[in-house]
Amino acid sequence: MGKLYKEYVKTYNLSPENSDGFYSVAGELLSTEEVLSLEQYEQHLEINRLQHILGVAYLSYKICKRLGWDFKSAARAGIMHDLVYYDWRDGETGGWHRLHGYKHPRLAAMNACELCPDLNKIEYDAIIKHMWPLTVRLPKFKEGYVIIFADKYCATRELMYSLNKKYKDKFLDDVKGI
Ligand SMILES: [Fe+2]
Ligand SMILES: [Fe+2]
Repeated sequence: MGKLYKEYVKTYNLSPENSDGFYSVAGELLSTEEVLSLEQYEQHLEINRLQHILGVAYLSYKICKRLGWDFKSAARAGIMHDLVYYDWRDGETGGWHRLHGYKHPRLAAMNACELCPDLNKIEYDAIIKHMWPLTVRLPKFKEGYVIIFADKYCATRELMYSLNKKYKDKFLDDVKGI
């Protein structure tokens, strides 16, 4: 099992005991009502938004910690990068959500400011730029690139999980084995 994949698998069974300090920097934010409410929204087919942000946050945390970068901001930005309280597939709000890909980083950043008045520049920038290259501007800080990478990595895995039965069975075995 590759190192990155192994860390990713761990996010499906993450607890304060096996999180390598992730919960000490992000546990409080992770247990807010706003963040926990993300469980009700589908993100990538069978994977809900809470699971998705947990994967992105934990991988970003681990990568930044390994590189000696700002792992706390990376963890927090990962948790809040998709902090929007709607299902973008919901047709009831008309055509508005069709532009979800472009609009949600700004909305997530606004919600993050509301939830965390102490949101720092690295976190704000990473949230608002995480959909690159769809949203054209590149992050100002290196942690932002890690978020972009982790987001795409997790999204790919989540879609594979939802669309490929063989992959899903193997993945669930890996989760049990960790
Ligand atoms: Fe996003
Ligand atoms: Fe995301």
